[in-house]
Amino acid sequence: MAATILDGKKCSEMRLEILKEEIGECGLHPHLATVIAGKDPASQMYVRMKHRACEQVGIGSVGIELPGDISTQKVLEKVRQLNADPDIDGILVQLPLPKGIDSERIIEAIDPAKDVDGYHPENMGLLFSGKPRFTSCTPTGIMTLLAEYKIPVAGARAVIAGRSIDVGRPMAALLLNADATVTICHSKTRNLADELKRADILVSAVGKAHFIRPEMVKPGATVIDVGINQLEGKLVGDVDFAAVREIAGAITPVPGGVGPMTIATLMENTLKAAKVRACSSAR
Ligand code: GUN
Repeated sequence: MAATILDGKKCSEMRLEILKEEIGECGLHPHLATVIAGKDPASQMYVRMKHRACEQVGIGSVGIELPGDISTQKVLEKVRQLNADPDIDGILVQLPLPKGIDSERIIEAIDPAKDVDGYHPENMGLLFSGKPRFTSCTPTGIMTLLAEYKIPVAGARAVIAGRSIDVGRPMAALLLNADATVTICHSKTRNLADELKRADILVSAVGKAHFIRPEMVKPGATVIDVGINQLEGKLVGDVDFAAVREIAGAITPVPGGVGPMTIATLMENTLKAAKVRACSSAR
């Protein structure tokens, strides 16, 4: 039997509707600032989509566009200004930054209370110690999608391909916090196909078109595709979707799977930041 399609677009639209209502009723006016350096078309498109979502739910947004040859120091100054700006609740620095900018220093400069991406080491540490505050949008969106489709996580064997700081590692922590048994695979993993084939929940965040083939997937497994790759002029994920959907129990499409969930989570994190800041300034 062909797999259930985990419809991230539909789930995200539902979440955004709920959020819009909540924002309309809560009396807060959350604001997100995005920072982009350079003119990478994919990054520009993602930032546009984030601003569009802000508009849809009633979050104010400010877009800061910096030249690609800007220095780390100048980006740091911008981030510090946003940290100090009482009207800004959330700060998102679009990654990757152009070569020559020290991304780590930039992320570490963001006020952890405004770090709606969840990339700051303080937020990462809280996540890994089982006390999450802001958690990265893509893995958090995946957890929401799993919950929406009632995919059991506690006790499940979850295998993640990719150990990046924005997806693989926080994904592992979130799954572990939800009582899954977690394995992270990477470029040095031996017998990768054997590891992947043990997964009840397989998450691929590798960035290679058709990397996950049906022989790597346990029949009935849930397959989550984080990849966004160009193949012969088409947008495809890491998973050979047409073949794997015949084996999997559930699968995310690309596009329309994980991507929209990332954006919905960013909106949720921004409202959360606004609430926390409103409560702390009321004290
Ligand atoms: N680049 C690709 N996805 C993301 C994201 O979720 N946040 C940021 N800051 N940069 C990204």
